[in-house]
Amino acid sequence: MVTNLNINLLNHDLSKLSEDKNLGQALVVFAETVSTKDSEKKSTTSKKSAEAPAAKITHAAVNSHFSAAIADKLITGKALEVNTFREINAFGFRHIIVAGLGKSPEHENIRQVGAAVYKELKAMQLVDVVVHIDGLISSKKSQNSFIKAFVEGALLSSYSFDELKSETKKSTEKKPTLNLHLATKLATDKTVKAAFAEATILATATNFSKRLGDMPGNLMTPTILAKEAAEAAKGTGVKVTAWDKARITKEKMGGLLGVAQGSAQEPRFIIMEYKGAPASKKPVVFVGKGLTFDTGGISLKPGAAMEEMKYDMCGGANVIGTLLAIAKLKLKINAIGLIPATENMPGSKATKPGDVHTARNGKTFEVNNTDAEGRLILSDALCYATELKPEIIIDAATLTGAMVIALGNIHTGYFTRNKNLKTKIENAAENSGELVWNMPLCDYHTKDMKGAFADLSNISSGKGAGSATAAAFLEQFVGDDIPWAHFDIAGTGWATGNRLNYCTAKGASGAMIRTFVELAKSFE
Ligand code: BES
Ligand code: ZN
Ligand code: ZN
Repeated sequence: MVTNLNINLLNHDLSKLSEDKNLGQALVVFAETVSTKDSEKKSTTSKKSAEAPAAKITHAAVNSHFSAAIADKLITGKALEVNTFREINAFGFRHIIVAGLGKSPEHENIRQVGAAVYKELKAMQLVDVVVHIDGLISSKKSQNSFIKAFVEGALLSSYSFDELKSETKKSTEKKPTLNLHLATKLATDKTVKAAFAEATILATATNFSKRLGDMPGNLMTPTILAKEAAEAAKGTGVKVTAWDKARITKEKMGGLLGVAQGSAQEPRFIIMEYKGAPASKKPVVFVGKGLTFDTGGISLKPGAAMEEMKYDMCGGANVIGTLLAIAKLKLKINAIGLIPATENMPGSKATKPGDVHTARNGKTFEVNNTDAEGRLILSDALCYATELKPEIIIDAATLTGAMVIALGNIHTGYFTRNKNLKTKIENAAENSGELVWNMPLCDYHTKDMKGAFADLSNISSGKGAGSATAAAFLEQFVGDDIPWAHFDIAGTGWATGNRLNYCTAKGASGAMIRTFVELAKSFE
């Protein structure tokens, strides 16, 4: 089970609460910090108190009820502060939880408030809780994005990966489901309902992809990954095809085959097709690195933390999640997801340093380091994407350790030479709340990837800029006139919980799914 949270809109404005009408076990309200300027202004006009309150609960009656707690600065409204008043038996609820919003929050702050609230309710083992969601909304402009963010934060943080623990496996099945009712006077408003539905779809798709990433390599082989994609796509209108090794060979995907040849596991080339627009509309194509375990191959990685290389398929997993979300949202676009999937193992048939392979478009490359394998499997996928005559190509890959050094787990670095696409990506990320950073890509990077004995080398002849030279390698397989962007999620694909409270500390993050869906929307 991925989540134990049920969330719904409740048509109630909570203005008339009565002690004897039971709406749930607990009520969640929000508190904001009042700016010092405002409180100074108030204190000069208010004769009663010398000092105006520094916080305000956004539900008037509850605010009055807690005036002493606010005056004592027990409730400060600070962002992510959660105060629980147990057994208070007021307004018809046993418990009241006051969650801080801070001062003029943005939607990303609200996403984190959603997670903080969920965690508190879960710790209290509650099953039936009402949230005064209208209290989040400060303006008509932010109304939908704030409701969406709160729902995303709660649902994303409700993800857990316990299915491989024998004890918790049994107990999670028994764990009660938390029913969270978002009370609002806007429950029947079309746009609010749409924002709520969108948040649910995005968070569910993200949690689905996180599970694929968290599965260990032995239980998430290329074959299993393809099956999971097909299973999840049932009923969504997405067609899933998975090419086996024989077909991949026939399709001349020398990069994917070259990486797969050292492994006992068969590779797969997964194709997901969604048709939401007339066939004449060019598709938006997403490509994801599906390296189900990266040992480095003959250029073997050091042992320390190698287990993390089960996450080397997160680009692929997140492209699967993106396609599922696009289909469930019924976007009016055509979208295709391509996931080359393989292990990178040092078996007796493995590619050796110096070996030369030929990609689908006929370009040859020397494999001077078998650990730079992501670019090789992506080369064929990008060739195939180009043949689809797409509107754009977007790829996601845990491609380089250099990206982790450059941006840590804070921003996802992306590369594109297309100014229009860059603007669209920046806007999409602004709306999703995910942090991205535009990285340089120019002809000098391309020059560094020239081969001595083949067209290309899979490692740079220069020093540094390892993420950009990897991007320059990928670019060799993208058609000249096709807008293309490459997202290196090596730093952000997992272990982002230290800064994002709706992500797990160690696990997969589902990075870029929300941004990719936003981007897809801009092609409607
Ligand atoms: N999957 C790795 C990149 C990676 C490393 C992702 C650490 C996340 C954390 C990729 O296949 C790889 O090993 N790249 C090499 C390329 C190098 C040999 C040019 C790298 O970055 O060291
Ligand atoms: Zn590698
Ligand atoms: Zn890799």
